Amino acid sequence: MIISVTNLKWGVGKSTVSQNLAVCFAHKDYKVCIVDTDTNQTSMKWSAYREDHLPSVPVFGITDSDALPKNIKALNEDYEIVLIDGKPSLSKMTSKILLVADVVLIPIVASGADFWAMEPFIERYEQARTLNDDLKALLLCNRHDARVNLRKEVQDAMGSLHEEYGIPTLATVLNQRVAYEEAMIKWMGVYEGKDVKAKQEVIRLIQELEDHLE
Ligand SMILES: Nc1ncnc2c1ncn2[C@@H]1O[C@H](COP(=O)(O)OP(=O)(O)O)[C@@H](O)[C@H]1O
Ligand SMILES: [Mg+2]
Repeated sequence: MIISVTNLKWGVGKSTVSQNLAVCFAHKDYKVCIVDTDTNQTSMKWSAYREDHLPSVPVFGITDSDALPKNIKALNEDYEIVLIDGKPSLSKMTSKILLVADVVLIPIVASGADFWAMEPFIERYEQARTLNDDLKALLLCNRHDARVNLRKEVQDAMGSLHEEYGIPTLATVLNQRVAYEEAMIKWMGVYEGKDVKAKQEVIRLIQELEDHLE
């Protein structure tokens, strides 16, 4: 299973979501790895320092888009779950990721302006679907703040992504929590930390993903 965590925007949580899903899947005894395609190498660094933590989560850096499909397919033979930590650009890499993935999880910060940058990404997704027709896309609200009401425009945009392109928004949201920031700098996932609510929402996210992929 190849799950890519991709959005054109920087800072929406691609690396956070990849790392937290990977850690949770690893604790559930899945054989899982991350492929870091971003030149910032956030997940590469995270894994280098994670060395002493168990279970281990191997991270492979692939920044050559031409080499990506072959390498990902090879990793998919060895690992039950390959998580691709995406690159925040409308690059050839993003197209290749969409061609090779089974699922694209799109983290968004729905209370921010990020949502409006989705259009070119959706076009790229539609193009990819002409060749990879099993590709599923799911929106994931990250850095959610229950005190902020989502603007009607954002809700409408989510509704139309579902209706027009078949891209639903997951019911599970990841809230804005210090636990996510702490986990990243301690080379962990929130599953391994003390914040029970953070841990529960990542577990729920995996359950919801599994339901969508059945
Ligand atoms: N749900 C969250 N709550 C709090 N901080 C978050 C959350 N998601 C991401 N962050 C923080 O936001 C910053 C950017 O996240 P990151 O995963 O690196 O984004 P991206 O990979 O999309 O650029 C990081 O410092 C991360 O710890
Ligand atoms: Mg990143």
